[in-house]
Amino acid sequence: MGNSVVDQSFWFVRIVETKAQVRARLRRWQDAGEKVTLVPTMGALHKAHTDLVRLAKRSGRAAVSIFVNPTQFAPGEDFERYPRDLEADAGLLRKGGADLLFAPAAEEVYPRGLEDLTRVEVPGLSGDLCGAYRPTHFAAVTSVVARLLLITLPDAVIFGRKDYQQLLILRRMVEDLHIPVEVIEGPITREGDGLAMSSRNRYLSAEERHIAPTLNQVLLECAERLRNGDRNFARLERDAMTFLERKSFVPDYVAVRRAGDLGPPPSSGPCEWVILAAAWLGSARLIDNVTCSP
Ligand code: PAJ
Repeated sequence: MGNSVVDQSFWFVRIVETKAQVRARLRRWQDAGEKVTLVPTMGALHKAHTDLVRLAKRSGRAAVSIFVNPTQFAPGEDFERYPRDLEADAGLLRKGGADLLFAPAAEEVYPRGLEDLTRVEVPGLSGDLCGAYRPTHFAAVTSVVARLLLITLPDAVIFGRKDYQQLLILRRMVEDLHIPVEVIEGPITREGDGLAMSSRNRYLSAEERHIAPTLNQVLLECAERLRNGDRNFARLERDAMTFLERKSFVPDYVAVRRAGDLGPPPSSGPCEWVILAAAWLGSARLIDNVTCSP
């Protein structure tokens, strides 16, 4: 056994915590001609995240960041109780084939603290839908993702379509700031019963977990009515809200919009709609969306 050099990454995903380490590692791959794709996450990983890793691996190396960004949680939201288990996450990433885990401390991302931060904001889109209920949220997301991209300088970055509004906002940020990184969209990963996977599903009681797939069913029903020619968008939204309330959800919104930019939905001509919803079920705020065309 004396001559065997064990590659530790076979058993453990390589974990780095500093800007210098992550940059050095990515540069080594990039200098060797390999494409590196970053998958930014807040940890509490599940199959949807490893699906994004697999998508990243198709074109080369997959680096995953885990950072529970304090600024994107408003006071009273779930920052403190957000599930954190780096060991379990690293185990999942190893199985999922990730090449690197970047897990910085807050001081690494925000070296001068959280006061008077330099911010990146995409106006308009960030105040709509979820932004109307979480007014500081998306500016904090763009501000942290800009930092993560500039720290790591990957060739590509992947965001999931589950967070459709977030995806569009981040794509807009990358385009508007000419950040030289390709934005790749990951499809929504669902449980067998249709519930979109989410770290926050862990907050659901057994009874709530049973009800939770209704959110997806309501959106699919709405899509079906759109496909069948119903163009009364306001009534579709109202009916969906009422149904959710009857099932003990507390919906923030259900909205029919134009896919791609969340503009008002055209009632004629070729188009793709997206129906988005956010609803509380117990102490979990669930979001989902479905796209469809005539
Ligand atoms: P987080 O909720 O951990 O999600 C990380 C990435 O996984 C996001 O791009 C999200 O859209 C994607 N994702 C989560 N569940 C998914 C599902 N069921 N199907 C497809 N993709 C899914 O989103 C964040 O973290 C943060 O806001 C972040 C972008 C990391 C900035 O802090």
